[in-house]
Amino acid sequence: MAPSSAQAAPAPVADHLAHVFAQYPFEVVSADGVWLHTRDGRRVLDYYGGHAVAALGYGHPRWLEALERQAREVLFQTNAIPMQIRERAAARLVAFAGLGLDTVFFVNSGAEANENALRLGFKLTGRREAVALEHGWHGRTAAAGAVTYGAREKWYGFPQTPFDVRFVSRSDPAAAAAGVSERTACVIVEPVQGLAGAYEVPVAVLEALRRRCDEVGALLIFDEVQCGVGRSGAPFAANRAGVTPDMLTAAKALGAGFPVSALLLSTPVASRLRIEDMGTTFGGGPLACAIVEAVIDIIESEALIANVERMSALIRSTCIAGPVTAVQGAGLLLGLRTTRPAKDVQRELLARGIFAGTAADPHIVRLLPPFTLEAPHVAALGAALAELPA
Ligand SMILES: Cc1ncc(COP(=O)(O)O)c(C=O)c1O
Repeated sequence: MAPSSAQAAPAPVADHLAHVFAQYPFEVVSADGVWLHTRDGRRVLDYYGGHAVAALGYGHPRWLEALERQAREVLFQTNAIPMQIRERAAARLVAFAGLGLDTVFFVNSGAEANENALRLGFKLTGRREAVALEHGWHGRTAAAGAVTYGAREKWYGFPQTPFDVRFVSRSDPAAAAAGVSERTACVIVEPVQGLAGAYEVPVAVLEALRRRCDEVGALLIFDEVQCGVGRSGAPFAANRAGVTPDMLTAAKALGAGFPVSALLLSTPVASRLRIEDMGTTFGGGPLACAIVEAVIDIIESEALIANVERMSALIRSTCIAGPVTAVQGAGLLLGLRTTRPAKDVQRELLARGIFAGTAADPHIVRLLPPFTLEAPHVAALGAALAELPA
C-alpha cells in the first residue's frame, strides 16, 4: 500500500521515473536478514517485506548461491528448449503444494499468472462471466484488473472489461454461491485477502464456492500471490482450508525477491491444454526456476512454515497494545486493527524503527514480514505499539 501524500518526502533520484507511487520518507541502501539500512544511517525492522516479497529476508546465502550458480551455468533459454532445472522447479512446487495440482506454468508476475488462469477459465468453458469476491485484489492487467474490486472506479483505465464480472459476498457462503451460475466461467478468490487488510475468507465460503463450481461446471481459481508459499502458515491457504481449486496462482514469496510467478493446474484442466494456449518469453527461465527450487528447499529445510505459525501466534498474543485492538489474517499475513487511522500508527512505528504496511481498510496496519522473523523482533513490535497512544 502506498503511503499517504502527507508522508511523502522529495524523491531523491526519481526525476526520470513515472510518479505513480507516493514515496515513503526513507531510502534503502542495503539490507540483511530482517533489517533495512537507510541512506540517513538508520536501521529499520522490516514488517512489510517489499509487498510480501522478501519471504526469506535479505541476503540469504543459499538464495544468493542458487542464483549465482545458475547464472554461471546457463542464464537463459526459452520454454521451447527442455531444461532439467525447469522440470525440477515444477516438480518441487507440485510436491510442496501437495494439492494434486500437478501441472505448472511459470510466468513473471502475479497479474500475469491470474491473467492466464482467467483466460483458461473462459477458453475451457466457452462462457462469458467471471465471479470475484468483494474486496479482492488481483492485479493491474486487463483481466486481473477487471476482477479486482473497485478497480473500474479507481484506476482500471481500459474502456471496457474483457468479460462480464459479478462481485459476491466474501463472508456469506449462501450469498457467494448464489452469484455463481451456468453463465460463470470461473470464480477467482484470494483465500486470505491481502490488500483488503489480511482478511481470511471463511472456510465455509470457500467450500460453498467449490460445491457451486462443481454443480455448474465453473472453474475455481485461488489467487495465492500474496498469501501463498508458506505465508499463511501452510504451503498454501488451500491446504489450511482443505479446499482444492482447479487453478492456483503463486508469486511474491515464490521468488523471495526474484520476479517469478506460477500457475498450478489440476489434471482435468491441464489435459485440455493445446500447444500455444499460453506463452511467455521470460517465464520459466532458468534463473527463476533455480530460485524457486532454492526457495522451497530453504522453506522446508529451515522449517520456516512452523516458524511462520510460531511468530504469528506470538504477534497475536503480544501485540494487542497501544492503538491495536485485534489481530486478523493468517500466518504472517496479519492485520492489526487500530483505534486510530492506520496511516498515523504506521508513521509512529516508522519513527520507532519499524516499517509496517497499511491496507485498503483505513484501520488496518498490515504485517508481511520475512518468514525468518524471530521472537525479539516481535517483542520490539509489541514494545513500540505499547508506547503509542491508544
Ligand atoms: C493477491 C494478489 N494478486 C495479484 C497481485 C498482482 O501481482 P503483481 O503485482 O506481481 O502483478 C497482487 C499484488 O499485490 C496480490 O496481492
